[in-house]
Amino acid sequence: MTQHHFPESFLWGSATAAYQIEGAATEDGRGPSIWDTYSHTPGRTLNGDTGDVAADHYHLWQQDLDHIAELGLGAYRFSVSWPRVQPGGAGRFNQAGIDFYSRLVDGLLERGVRPVATMYHWDLPQELEDAGGWAERDTALRFQEYAAGIVGALGDRVHTWTTLNEPWCSAYLGYASGVHAPGRTEPAAALAAVHHLNLAHGLAGRVVREVAPAAELSVTLNLHVIRPASDSEADRDAVRRIDALANRAFLGPMLDGEYPADLLADTASVTDWSFVRDGDEKLIAVPLDVLGVNYYSSTLVRAWDGASARSDADGHGASASSPWVAAENVDFLPQPGPYTAMGWNIDPPALTELLLRLHREYPSQPMMITENGAAFDDVVSADGRIHDDRRIDYLRRHIGAMADARAQGADVRGYFVWSLLDNFEWGYGYDRRFGIIRVDYDTQVRTWKDSAHWYQRLAATGELDQ
Ligand code: NOJ
Repeated sequence: MTQHHFPESFLWGSATAAYQIEGAATEDGRGPSIWDTYSHTPGRTLNGDTGDVAADHYHLWQQDLDHIAELGLGAYRFSVSWPRVQPGGAGRFNQAGIDFYSRLVDGLLERGVRPVATMYHWDLPQELEDAGGWAERDTALRFQEYAAGIVGALGDRVHTWTTLNEPWCSAYLGYASGVHAPGRTEPAAALAAVHHLNLAHGLAGRVVREVAPAAELSVTLNLHVIRPASDSEADRDAVRRIDALANRAFLGPMLDGEYPADLLADTASVTDWSFVRDGDEKLIAVPLDVLGVNYYSSTLVRAWDGASARSDADGHGASASSPWVAAENVDFLPQPGPYTAMGWNIDPPALTELLLRLHREYPSQPMMITENGAAFDDVVSADGRIHDDRRIDYLRRHIGAMADARAQGADVRGYFVWSLLDNFEWGYGYDRRFGIIRVDYDTQVRTWKDSAHWYQRLAATGELDQ
């Protein structure tokens, strides 16, 4: 058994997102977002589930903060709903919405918990999508205005401002494969969205620097660990291609100040990238206090010759529309198990690999795991408890993998479990449960799963047995 010890300064937290937990979709002046529209469109989400009520956190937030305090966590990562604070995505702000987040932040501070606020966790105001959404440059400018409004109101009471959550999903799942809102399948629009999300990050990052200089600045990326099916040159080139789309399309402008040349070349048949204007890349490269990394599973690819049967096991379903723009010559292979209830393979060493790669390429960049966790089919036992051993095992092995990377020099300063509560898992609705706390959606009663007790002990002692 390996024993890992984390120092007291290591930050243990949990994460959520507004649309996934808040509910109260039409209350107190909140405007509609693309996820309201999408989830209310028949056939888009499993069982037609929507975030209308979700975990009713908008009303139960005090109770939820008490759970965070009782878990003994040092930080809580939540997101601000753009349409709750600026219903039309431009102009007028909604004071009732701002007040909600202001109370939430104060409630965290009163409980000694660091607020880590994400500005954008996928709920774009519908009016902005009606004007073209992230495919339009104007959306990034609107985001700057929204950022100025919330940073002005919450300022450095928020310890860490995170501009975007997983822009890969917003761009490629929202605009290329269409399995996320707004559900468009337009490859060129997806690449324009990549750039406008990056630009939004740079603009909002500068707002944080100016308006709340004492706050830390971060972004959260779902970086992919991509393995080749063989050592052949063709398979290794398939890895390079997917790495460009998935990872370097964001890391490049954000941390190196430019898009990788191979990404532009690979996608030339789809777009000429003329939406990138002089100066944009420099603007995007605002220095980050911390890079947020979300990690769940790994990816296996091979070069596709155009003849053999395709697997398309990219973890997002063998959809007719691929999220992988201009990568028709790459096939995604099924991975060996075990799997979570999402069908995602469990691969803790890939997390070590990812953190070491980042450490190698960006040696002075501090990092945090801003999401890691697992959905399993939880069972409430006769004793009323949820013995979620598989989730504990998943968490233990991934936290161990992170510890291994730290031991080899990676500067990882915190870990946020996804998620504090069961919640609306996007296209999968309420069917997939990621919480360490169970939510009974009929009664909104919260029950700690065994994993919550386990995590509480880890946060208190910093001792991980593996
Ligand atoms: C990433 C997203 O940020 C979060 O919203 C989602 O619920 C989890 N992954 C699990 O899929």
